[in-house]
Order: sequence, then structure tokens, then C-alpha cells
Amino acid sequence: MEATQISFDSDRALPAQAYRDPMWLAAEKKDIWHNDWVFATSIDALANPGDQVPTYVGSQPVLLIRRQSGELAALSNLCAHRGTLLVDKPTNDKRIRCPYHAWTYEDSGRLQAIPYATDDQVDKAAHCLPNYRIETWHGLVFVSLNPDVEPLTERFADIEPLVSQRGIDDMRHDATFQTTDEWACNWKVAILNAMESYHLFKVHPSTLEPFTPTRDSYYITGSPTATATGGSHKDDEDYLLISLPPGFVGIFSQGTFLWQSVHPIDTHRCEVRTGGAFKSKDSSNLVGNLKAWFNWSAGAMLPGDFLAEDKEICQRVQLGISGEFVPGQLLKIEQVVIDFGRYLYQRLTEGAPSQTTSIKES
Ligand code: FES
Ligand SMILES: [Fe+2]
Repeated sequence: MEATQISFDSDRALPAQAYRDPMWLAAEKKDIWHNDWVFATSIDALANPGDQVPTYVGSQPVLLIRRQSGELAALSNLCAHRGTLLVDKPTNDKRIRCPYHAWTYEDSGRLQAIPYATDDQVDKAAHCLPNYRIETWHGLVFVSLNPDVEPLTERFADIEPLVSQRGIDDMRHDATFQTTDEWACNWKVAILNAMESYHLFKVHPSTLEPFTPTRDSYYITGSPTATATGGSHKDDEDYLLISLPPGFVGIFSQGTFLWQSVHPIDTHRCEVRTGGAFKSKDSSNLVGNLKAWFNWSAGAMLPGDFLAEDKEICQRVQLGISGEFVPGQLLKIEQVVIDFGRYLYQRLTEGAPSQTTSIKES
């Protein structure tokens, strides 16, 4: 396959190919999704020994598991026999049994039992489930297929003080509150939209703009790996928004922490999830807290409203960039988009000095 030249200037909008070319997605899978930390879920989803939560990291099915020993682990979620997906929904079990021929694994990933096989027929040690890196950061669970990835504390060191000041460790994550949706756009359209506050006045004139206006948003600190922005809130202290590439954005406001995570499905589709942590110890107050965050008056505005607005505009962006266009200039107010472009650039080119790169299909 021929190499394709891709012009890529991180200070401008991304080129159309970045949003639709399978070669780009293949490069992103290799250098980003299969190489960097990827957000998986919140820690409460794995509270008890035996809790198992299936997920995907790029193309790899991964099983998050709370071992009987209490340790958190991320195992390959495909059977070492013929590759069947092992666990397809959250469950609780001491071991992992394949639904196809019942090969059974311990929660360490060790192959324990093989029906109809004599002991000398299969080398069990050669058929274990690989373990991946897994770490938590303030109750957020991240997984990486890269054994050499830096620790999360190092990765997020720049924004750590800002996040700690917001009292995140006094908040309670609640995975039962998570939502999952599929958007008809490239994953980068959705995550860039979640990161920037420039569009609030136009896309969310009645849902977000009255409470968190575009004109009062500002940049705090940023880098290709983590950016913090803020903005005033009509009735409360300023919000803090953290953007953690590749696919995680969280916002602190009114005593809550709400997050949105994005994961690619294919070039034109992505999975968008939301969830949150709340100051209250009482789950009956969860909705109350959410209402407060959205300044929900008399039930007139549903929490989903602004997400529906985001989904609509993101899908419309995808319709546009399926044509040809010269990437436009990014504004100062979009510095977080520039930071993300630099992240992408660094990862896809391994920090090469040139702003133009060639990505070869592997
Ligand atoms: S594929 Fe899993 S036991 Fe056969
Ligand atoms: Fe939005």
C-alpha cells in the first residue's frame, strides 16, 4: 500500500482526512488508543471482589476485574483458545469461563481448566489471559495496553493541584448514573467539542450559555497531555474543565464532577459516555445535585438537552468535513483545540520537529 502524505498543522483545524480516512484511524489506534492511557469507568463499578466489567481499549476487548485479593486488574477479554469474547456484560464471578467450550480462567488470568483435555495435551501456561496496565486517578479508572506508559500521577501532575482543590476525593462516583450513546461523527469531533467553550453561545443559547457564557470562559493551563480551562457560573463559583486526551473531559461545577468520554467505533462513528461524582453521600440527592448543576428550574430543562445539542452539531460537522476544505485558523479562545492538535501531532509523529508528517499504512 502506498504511503499517503498528510499535511498536519496543529495550530489550525485538522485536515479532512483526519476525520474520515481509515489510515488515520489505524495510525491513531496504534499510536494512541493501543499505546496511551484510556479512560475505562469509575472505581465504584469495581467495588467488590469478583466484580467484572467488559470494555474496549481501541480494538482490544478488555475485562476490568476486582480480584478476590482485592487488587484491580485489566485482562484480555478474549479466550486464549479460539478468541471468543469472554464477558459481554458487567457481572460478579470468582473466575472467567468461556461461553464456547468452557475453558476456565482464574481472576489472575491463569488458565485453570480445559474440558475434554488430558493434562499433557495443552500447555496451560501458554494460554493465560494477558494483564494490562490499570491505574486509578481520583476514582477514575484508566487502562493502557502499553506496559511502559508513564504513571497517571506523572501524566496529570500539572493539573493535579487544581483537581484536588475542587474536593474530588470527597465526592462519590456513581457508575449507575452513566449513559452511553453512539454519535455519527469521528471521535475527535466529539471530544474537541466537549473540550472547547467557544461554541456555547451558539449551540447552547438556552441550556448552557445563560449559566456559563462563552465570553466569561478562560484558559488556565495546558499542554498536549492535559489542559484546564474555566469560566464563570451565574450562581456559583467558576467552573473548572479538565481536558485529558485522547478521550476524557471532566467539569467541576456546583459541587459535582461530570465527565464525558469518547471512544472511536470507526472513522465516522464514536461512543460517547457520560457519568459523574457527587459531594452528597446520599444517592437520593444525586438527581438533586444534577438539577443544581444545570440550574434546572421547574423541570423545564432536562440534563440531556445540552448533550442532544452537542450530538446534533457534531454530526453536522462530520457531514461538512466529508467534503474538501482547507483547515481554518483556530482562535485564541480555542487554545485547548490547539493543545489537542499538538497531542495528536506528537503521538502520530513521535515528536518529530516538522509540522508536516507522512503516515504510512501498516
Ligand atoms: S473459544 Fe473459548 S473455550 Fe473455545
Ligand atoms: Fe457543547
